[in-house]
Amino acid sequence: MRYLVTGGAGFIGSNFVRFLYAQGGNVAVRVLDKMTYSANLANLKEFANRQDYEFIKGDICDATVVKKAMQGVDVVVNFAAEVSVDRSIDDPQSFLKTDIVGVYTLLQEARNHPNLKRFIQISTDEVYGHILEGSFHEASELKPRNPYAASKLGGERLAYSFFETYGTPVVITRASNNYGPYAYPEKVIPLFITNLIDGKQVPVFGQGKQVRDWLYVEDHCRAIHLLVEKGINGEVYNVGGSQECENIELTRNLLTALGKDESSIRYVQDRPGHDMRYSLDSSKLHKLGWTPACDLVQGLSKTVDWYVKNELWWRPLKEKLDPRYSKGFWGDTKKEA
Ligand SMILES: NC(=O)c1ccc[n+]([C@@H]2O[C@H](COP(=O)([O-])OP(=O)(O)OC[C@H]3O[C@@H](n4cnc5c(N)ncnc54)[C@H](O)[C@@H]3O)[C@@H](O)[C@H]2O)c1
Repeated sequence: MRYLVTGGAGFIGSNFVRFLYAQGGNVAVRVLDKMTYSANLANLKEFANRQDYEFIKGDICDATVVKKAMQGVDVVVNFAAEVSVDRSIDDPQSFLKTDIVGVYTLLQEARNHPNLKRFIQISTDEVYGHILEGSFHEASELKPRNPYAASKLGGERLAYSFFETYGTPVVITRASNNYGPYAYPEKVIPLFITNLIDGKQVPVFGQGKQVRDWLYVEDHCRAIHLLVEKGINGEVYNVGGSQECENIELTRNLLTALGKDESSIRYVQDRPGHDMRYSLDSSKLHKLGWTPACDLVQGLSKTVDWYVKNELWWRPLKEKLDPRYSKGFWGDTKKEA
């Protein structure tokens, strides 16, 4: 199988490349990545000398680059995206470009490849909006509440339309919050772990009552791989970790794991339009034979361990973090609450 992994220098994409090679067998991987702030070639350096690996620096919105990247490929997995909710509130336009126009550019090129076996569009549970009780299933109403989620919805619905209109072999995933090794330290779990390692406080939005469903990244990769093999074209699959947890509870778990107390918490003004709770019903994917293997306790312990041991990876990134997104400031003036 020859894979094109777009956004493969980011968190989940690089874990997916690692997962593919770990499966063994006859697999070749080409990564296409624009190398935005969250990308890191160190995530992929162990593959750099492989004959069956190729890296192209380029933008999924650039039709010429995309044409070159898709040559000879059997499967496209599109991870490439602008991802952060906070950044999308500040600058929605870049999200519309990559998360919609970029997906369109990939889909257009896919039409020139009638033998393409699969086009996996990685979407997100945020397209549903939030839910106070019960869980979202794939047919639930779609009510994205921030520009990131709305752009992702635009991209995935466009992908669906290409399946209906041109027969593109599209499968769409909607995963919950991922965590694990190689996550950019602006994301909440690595931000908190690395702050605590350095004896700094961690910024908790509001009272930390928001609920997230956490999915260990390797479980997500296994689900995507299964869908390459067994997914049904045109279908959407929820990929939930079934590990719901309030942000404050997650924070306390990390405090305990790193030997800290409540004085390490700094409560900050909540994000505007903050989704209260995400919850996914993933029974459709369970029927294909997937369940998450890693619970939150195990996953957090593995993740803390990885960041403790891989300071050389995160320290240079941490030094360059944009304080607007790593300190938890919100409001017109972005002043501390
Ligand atoms: N992180 C999560 O919890 C989560 C949950 C559900 C879905 N997702 C989806 O998974 C995918 C990967 O997320 P991630 O957390 O690994 O993000 P990430 O920011 O770590 O990785 C995104 C990658 O895409 C690349 N990229 C951005 N714009 C590009 C462009 N125009 N052309 C080519 N490459 C470009 C970046 O350089 C980066 O390497 C995204 O599509 C995201 O919406 C993420």
